Amino acid sequence: MSTSCLIEVSALLLYIRFIRGEPTKHIPLINSTVATRREQTTGSWEVIQRTLNGSQFYTFSVCNVGEREQDNWLRTTFIQRRPSASRVFVELQFIVRDCNSFDGASLTCKETFNLFTSESDADVGTTFRKGQFKKVATIAPDEITSKNELRINTETKVVENLSRKGFYLAFQDIGACIALLSVRVYYKTCPATVKSLASFPETVAGGENQALREVSGVCVENAISEELPRIYCTVDGEWVVPVGQCQCKPGYEEVEDECQECKAGSFKAEASGDKCTPCPANTQELDSGAVVCPCMDGFYRAPNDPPTGPCSGLPSAPRDLVATTSAGKLLLTWSPPEDTGGRTDITYSIECQRCEGMVCQSCGEKIRYEPAGVGLTDTKVSVSELDAHLNYTFTVEAHSGVTIFSFQRYPPKITAMRVMERSSTSLSLFWDVKPRVHPRPIRYELTYRKKVRHSRFFYPDKYGFCIFLFRKRNSHTRQGPEDTYFSSSEQLKPLKTYVDPHTYEDPNTAVLKFATEIHPSHITKQKVIGAGEFGEVYRGILKVPGRKEVAVAIKTLKPGYTEKQRQDFLSEASIMGQFSHQNIIRLEGVVTKFKHAMIVTEYMENGALDRYLRDHDGEFASFQLVGMLRGIAAGMKYLSDMSYVHRDLAARNILVNNTLECKVSDFGLSRVLEDDPEGTYTTSGGKIPIRWTAPEAIAYRKFTSASDVWSFGIVMWEVMAFGERPYWDMSNHEVMKAINEAFRLPAPMDCPSAVYQLMLQCWLQDRSKRPRFGDIVSLLDKLLRSPDSLKTIADFDPRISIRLPSTSGSDGSPFRSVSEWLESIKMSQYSENFACAGVVTMDQVLQMKNEDIKNIGVRLPGHLKRIAYSILGLKDQTSTLSVFAV
Ligand SMILES: *[C@@H]1O[C@H](CO)[C@@H](O)[C@H](O)[C@H]1NC(C)=O
Ligand SMILES: *[C@@H]1O[C@H](CO)[C@@H](O)[C@H](O)[C@H]1NC(C)=O
Ligand SMILES: *[C@@H]1O[C@H](CO)[C@@H](O)[C@H](O)[C@H]1NC(C)=O
Ligand SMILES: *[C@@H]1O[C@H](CO)[C@@H](O)[C@H](O)[C@H]1NC(C)=O
Ligand SMILES: *[C@@H]1O[C@H](CO)[C@@H](O)[C@H](O)[C@H]1NC(C)=O
Repeated sequence: MSTSCLIEVSALLLYIRFIRGEPTKHIPLINSTVATRREQTTGSWEVIQRTLNGSQFYTFSVCNVGEREQDNWLRTTFIQRRPSASRVFVELQFIVRDCNSFDGASLTCKETFNLFTSESDADVGTTFRKGQFKKVATIAPDEITSKNELRINTETKVVENLSRKGFYLAFQDIGACIALLSVRVYYKTCPATVKSLASFPETVAGGENQALREVSGVCVENAISEELPRIYCTVDGEWVVPVGQCQCKPGYEEVEDECQECKAGSFKAEASGDKCTPCPANTQELDSGAVVCPCMDGFYRAPNDPPTGPCSGLPSAPRDLVATTSAGKLLLTWSPPEDTGGRTDITYSIECQRCEGMVCQSCGEKIRYEPAGVGLTDTKVSVSELDAHLNYTFTVEAHSGVTIFSFQRYPPKITAMRVMERSSTSLSLFWDVKPRVHPRPIRYELTYRKKVRHSRFFYPDKYGFCIFLFRKRNSHTRQGPEDTYFSSSEQLKPLKTYVDPHTYEDPNTAVLKFATEIHPSHITKQKVIGAGEFGEVYRGILKVPGRKEVAVAIKTLKPGYTEKQRQDFLSEASIMGQFSHQNIIRLEGVVTKFKHAMIVTEYMENGALDRYLRDHDGEFASFQLVGMLRGIAAGMKYLSDMSYVHRDLAARNILVNNTLECKVSDFGLSRVLEDDPEGTYTTSGGKIPIRWTAPEAIAYRKFTSASDVWSFGIVMWEVMAFGERPYWDMSNHEVMKAINEAFRLPAPMDCPSAVYQLMLQCWLQDRSKRPRFGDIVSLLDKLLRSPDSLKTIADFDPRISIRLPSTSGSDGSPFRSVSEWLESIKMSQYSENFACAGVVTMDQVLQMKNEDIKNIGVRLPGHLKRIAYSILGLKDQTSTLSVFAV
């Protein structure tokens, strides 16, 4: 039917051009000699060798200008398509002769030809069906060639929407005089690139009929981003509109499209576009890749200091303390410390000791400081209401934001002790102390070995002098060396013994004896912070004329109380008022003479210890936790020395102030446990917090300091486990049964072995074998003085210490999701980190190494350990939940 002629375009002429943003490369598909099909009839396309510009060219030519109705076809060989190249460019070089140059042929002569294409999944050989071809374009020359002048045209056409394995091109001549010099077929790509720290793959331009192709990048090594960066590839092979940005991980910075480790001595704490910054003052320069520069020994960051800031030292002692008297008042003045440790938040506190003979004690509440005894920013204070007949020792201490860390340091070395004076009843001793970088007040302990009672005296090393007076006691002879640390039986009896307010006929008398009456107008309530058994508890301000205003907690008695309730309410003040210790919540005073009775205590900014630790899970190092325990133990020692039994010692009843000082609270009589949510009625009728209470106290209400020691063991566990609930979700009944069967709580994760051993001692069945609070304080002090003693970690069994929900672990069945697992170990805050890192199945979790956990952004050591331990535990799910036996 068709008169068309077909000649295949030689492979020689076909090139695919790759554009990579570099110099263009032409890659011929096949190198072969000209393939011709000369058997076609005359008048059709033919291969003609020409000389152009001095070089030889093969061209496909046709020139039937004098004949009508020409329909001459030239088809290419099959052109394989790269799957993503759906848009290809066809570049033609050709010559068209001017019709006017043919005499008498102008009626039939044409000056254009047509480009066609046909898609196919296979090479169909020489089979040619015109009807299968679609027209792409009419090709017209920009310049036509006259007799004398040869004009080569170059035209590029686009063939779009290609979807099959390959295609053919065809050229249809309808009566022109043309020579086809070359046909190049190519597609364009956006070259592989790195932008915004993300790498984007080479992308074929103009895919899927879209002018812009959206491409997602992958962050380069050691870079992360919350959202995957994207960029668009244009049909012309250009990248445009980058969206999003990867950022170098902590410890890495951007250098020429890469993330490189921070150089030694510099650090970067966050994933950001920032550069690494040099380690700040007084920090250790770590190797490359540091995310934080830890403080040098003896330097610290205050809790409110940024972790990226400089570290500061402890302030040295204030200097030049001078005491003068005027108008019956004592004025103390001093100069600021020589070395402020690089801080500006220096404050001073005054400590007063009163000595009668050999017995020294704190001056207590009786004397008045103006403007205040603590938190002074000025270097002077006036002291009044001193007793003329007593010897007082005033100590001025300099504090700063980092003073809370002072307990971490080793005690100074004492050298050259000598006796300066001696009489039948007294000795004066001197000794030297090895100079330290940051002199801080410390207490010395003196121990006598022979015929002398073991005694303790406190001496602040502020000043360059010291005098100690000891009295020999011949009545009490001791043999052999004394264990310095376990000496409670040998210590001085306390000066006071706790008086049960119930022994007073009129409880109101007791309140007035032990507590200061405050006028309600001096109290400002600010905010409700809780509800007690008797009424609301407020935070507020106490402003007594002549004294610095202080933040206080105000317990109120709700209206409609009975006289009995009022007395019970005030009994707590009668008890608290008898105590004066830095680890016991301090009573500021009471309001009893007005209708609305109130109890005013110091305000503890950080609230209850259990809650506080849960909120700061994993954020404290062992020695800090042990430091807290030391404070609680000191408070409990004070109470037990006064023969007061607390009965409800638990982390929820310990309050924490701004400087992390822990104080025992919650005293009261009927309170024993009325208002404690943990209180459970026992068969004997009383309410008891089972999990915290010693077995003998549960069994026959034998509450003693030894049962308080048991509770202290539980508090130790709560503290080391960051506020975890003791015995997790075991029922009270199960707990009692386990305890009776000699089971004890297992060591919390990362708990120093020495600390866990102490817990187990507190939980001895035989209460006479448990340590006393004096022993506990001494041991904890000893641990704090030698940080190495905290390095040995108690065995930890993740299957026990991590509470696993019933869906998992304990019964061996796997978690249903990563977030469920994270929730079970209280690490839900990292769900996103896991998701972003593409860790979405528990199988993937099990593959994770410690390094991987770090890399996805878990940085706190405590959290790292918890997650790593849990993974270990998941890998070995053969054993079931059990409790450690002693
Ligand atoms: C064709 O020849 C060129 C240059 O002679 C060479 O670079 C190319 O690799 C050859 N291609 C094939 C497919 O043989
Ligand atoms: C012929 O050669 C000259 C110089 O080498 C060049 O400028 C010109 O473009 C060439 N013409 C053709 C038709 O290739
Ligand atoms: C290719 O496909 C797009 C969308 O389907 C259409 O708009 C366009 O006209 C097509 N181009 C050709 C040459 O068929
Ligand atoms: C006060 O100290 C002096 C000197 O050390 C001493 O002689 C005097 O007895 C002391 N007074 C009291 C009440 O202890
Ligand atoms: C916390 O309590 C301790 C001991 O009573 C005290 O020395 C310290 O000043 C208190 N800190 C604050 C910020 O009130």
